[in-house]
Amino acid sequence: MSTTVLDRPKGNLEPLNVTEIDPFIDLAAEIDRLRKERNAVILAHYYQDPEIQDIADFVGDSLDLSRKAANTDADVIAFCGVRFMAETAKILSPEKTVVLPDMAAGCSLEDSCPPDEFAKFRKEHPDHVSLTYINCSAEVKALSDIIVTSTNAQAIVEQIPEGTPILFAPDRHLGAYLARKTGRDMTLWPGSCIVHEQFSERELIKVMGENPDAPVTAHPECPEAILAHADHIGSTSSILKFVTETDAQTIIIATEPHIIHQMEKLAPGKTFIGAPGADGECNCNNCPFMELNTMEKLYLSLANLAPQIEVPEDIRVKALQSVQRMLDMSPPAQPIRDAAAASA
Ligand code: 13P
Ligand code: SF4
Repeated sequence: MSTTVLDRPKGNLEPLNVTEIDPFIDLAAEIDRLRKERNAVILAHYYQDPEIQDIADFVGDSLDLSRKAANTDADVIAFCGVRFMAETAKILSPEKTVVLPDMAAGCSLEDSCPPDEFAKFRKEHPDHVSLTYINCSAEVKALSDIIVTSTNAQAIVEQIPEGTPILFAPDRHLGAYLARKTGRDMTLWPGSCIVHEQFSERELIKVMGENPDAPVTAHPECPEAILAHADHIGSTSSILKFVTETDAQTIIIATEPHIIHQMEKLAPGKTFIGAPGADGECNCNNCPFMELNTMEKLYLSLANLAPQIEVPEDIRVKALQSVQRMLDMSPPAQPIRDAAAASA
């Protein structure tokens, strides 16, 4: 069955019931048309498929995307990322319709931290301030004092008064990295990212040997054994900034490889080598959750205004406090130099 989406006035929020996609339609053009019709903004994380990154109104890291979601005047946010990111958008902008192309797009860190167990963890450490990575459910955000992302975590830890012990959940690698960097007393939740745990130190050393002039840049979700080889450690936006600013022409990238698309756009001419997994192959570290979002599902989510993110109001109001504290304590965004535009 082919489906034609009728032209409607801007901001039309009437859901359609499109179940099948005409294989002959120009998906990008239809998504663009629906974006205008819905007065929608498409937000995408750097780990999304290149086609989705290219059609998005804005591509960024989890902090940038939260800021965009908080400030948009769109009626609909089509969130191309994982569920905790779309939930954060809804927490910040409850009056907006927030759609996620595939509701199964979760995160292993969120899965590792069930709210009831986290509540117990907090009760066992009553004197601790709880800093929680944004990669968690709305319920866990509601139980936390302050949310952090990998962009602002160190700056936020440094604002916690000396001597106050910190509970950090759910990423033990990011938590351990922050404890090493700041020297703070941090009790860590034992969660991890299944993607960043795939990198093989042995294979990384081989690639480094083959490319002796290439610096290694790594996301702090990587285990310490990988971070020990990194010349630069940071969030996705920080990694992107590093690769555009370094004089190095070849860089080894230890994070989810879809970000390389953005690197090739911002710093064309440089060579980006994905850090290998245990089988020695590059690009074997795709995030299986991020990959669930496709152009087809993005189109359907805009047409049907589904699946929609809903957060119960009592949880949202509590979660907003910890998310808002994060925004208030975050340093200003660091612009990423567009080397391609600069040399044009
Ligand atoms: P960033 O905030 O660095 O974009 O990280 C999000 C994420 O899920 C990394 O795995
Ligand atoms: Fe979660 Fe890891 Fe995927 Fe990021 S890369 S969304 S932390 S599973």
